[in-house]
Amino acid sequence: MFTHKPGSRSLKNPRTLLALTVSGLLLGSAVMAAEGPGLGKPITEAQLQGWDLIVAPDGTGLPEGSGTAAQGQAVYEQKCAACHGMQGEGTAGVPALAGGSLTATPPVMTAGSYWPHASTIFDYVRRAMPPLAPKSLTDTEVYEVTAYVLHLHGIVERDFVLDSTSLPQVQMPNAGNFIDRSQVQ
Ligand code: HEC
Repeated sequence: MFTHKPGSRSLKNPRTLLALTVSGLLLGSAVMAAEGPGLGKPITEAQLQGWDLIVAPDGTGLPEGSGTAAQGQAVYEQKCAACHGMQGEGTAGVPALAGGSLTATPPVMTAGSYWPHASTIFDYVRRAMPPLAPKSLTDTEVYEVTAYVLHLHGIVERDFVLDSTSLPQVQMPNAGNFIDRSQVQ
């Protein structure tokens, strides 16, 4: 004979009801996870362009456009000099962009002395400067102002045309004094 044991899985038992509800919820969320929560939307190629801004030392990633230091002076004086100084000498709390040397004591880590590739100046300025409005410069303005920063170091002439072909060929003064450890495993 079958007797009904107290505490068996009866739907009248509140604990059984709770257990069934919880396992139902878990099952539901597993199904939802498999389908995705349905939030956001896929990024388009055009939107990705605004983020995919990496410029490599060999020039990969440099956009179209060009600029000279002569053109870049106006951009620099309007958008950079207030913080970095008229000659790139820096101001309180803002690093100098020009001058100094790695052989000085203490060594001066300006872009001209410490950065082995000119492409880094372009890359960094395009994505990060000016700090209050990053990515606000046009590609042409970035070429112009990069040429100007290089000119402040005496690395290029005022009329040197910086573009995707000439920029990777610019020799930085300390380029030979770095150890490339990018391949270290
Ligand atoms: C509001 C002040 C401000 C303005 C305007 C500004 N910068 Fe900067 N810049 C900074 C600060 C602060 C840093 C240091 C950021 C850090 O180390 O994280 C910096 C860093 C840099 C560096 C890296 C220097 C190094 O050796 O590490 C470069 C290159 C640079 N800025 C270029 C520019 C250019 C070009 C412009 C104009 C388009 C500009 N900045 C406008 C404040 C400013």
